Amino acid sequence: MDIMQPPFRINPEPNKRAGFRAWPPYPSAEPCCEPITHIRAKNLSIAYQGHQALRDVTLEINRGCITALVGPSGCGKTSFLMSLNRLTDLIPGCQVSGNLNINELDILAPTTDLLQLRRTVGMIFQKPTVFPFSIRKNLELPLREHGTHHRSLLNSTIEKVLQQVGLWHEVKGRLDHPAQALSGGQQQRLCLARALVLSPDILLLDEPCSALDPLSSGIVEDLIVSLRSHFTVLIVTHNLAQARRIADHIAFFWSFEGVGKLVEYGPAQAIFENPIHELTAAYISGTRG
Ligand SMILES: Nc1ncnc2c1ncn2[C@@H]1O[C@H](COP(=O)(O)OP(=O)(O)OP(=O)(O)O)[C@@H](O)[C@H]1O
Ligand SMILES: [Mg+2]
Repeated sequence: MDIMQPPFRINPEPNKRAGFRAWPPYPSAEPCCEPITHIRAKNLSIAYQGHQALRDVTLEINRGCITALVGPSGCGKTSFLMSLNRLTDLIPGCQVSGNLNINELDILAPTTDLLQLRRTVGMIFQKPTVFPFSIRKNLELPLREHGTHHRSLLNSTIEKVLQQVGLWHEVKGRLDHPAQALSGGQQQRLCLARALVLSPDILLLDEPCSALDPLSSGIVEDLIVSLRSHFTVLIVTHNLAQARRIADHIAFFWSFEGVGKLVEYGPAQAIFENPIHELTAAYISGTRG
């Protein structure tokens, strides 16, 4: 099979919520996402110091879906996420080519307002990285940086996002205590709250549960599912069981002699039950990768 061809399941039909995955049909389940393209990558390639890390990725992601990026280490998952809010600009010698759009916005255009882009596209990383300040200040900083200074608006926004991530009742009495005193799971939820505070449209989550114990991981996972349809979520995970539980769509990447490529993309159920590419089948069954 020629994997230089575009992915095989382009622009898939929206899948349905986890727990409603009788396949087919879905008699009463509501669609998880709008059948409207939100993110479009066309022939996206990324190189570091001239070394190709990702080549010719073409895919369309619908608004409100959870898309899991899976594949072995080094196949370009993080690089793909970072290109979406131009964090790749911060890496010396990193070159991104091809087309990348959020709605009509040309992400890679030199004129793109990066502050606005990063407000629209929030990212959280594998290890919770809270700032060495209070819980409150962790959330106030991005708000102030983006022009919100009114005390009452700061307070109401902080309460709203902490409610959203299920932290409010755990921390409302100690907002001025150091964020670093929180547990790992609480810190990861605080990082999510910090990403939500600027009301992004898109959330990029790079292995957000891999540093967490199973209980905290479950809380963060439930939270991600609860954000479905409010945000377009791209999550990198090495945990295929997690991808199966939460994702509407799967993008499966593979590294071919050090060059990452998108091998297969489609509804999660179809990818897990009936993968088209033999590499996908081998990865899912655990015989490769
Ligand atoms: N800052 C960098 N400088 C040079 N090469 C890099 C840099 N970041 C990533 N790479 C290279 O790009 C390729 C893809 O890396 P990337 O981190 O995107 O993979 P990944 O799929 O996220 O891997 P993992 O699952 O281990 O996190 C790798 O070969 C990696 O060595
Ligand atoms: Mg990575």
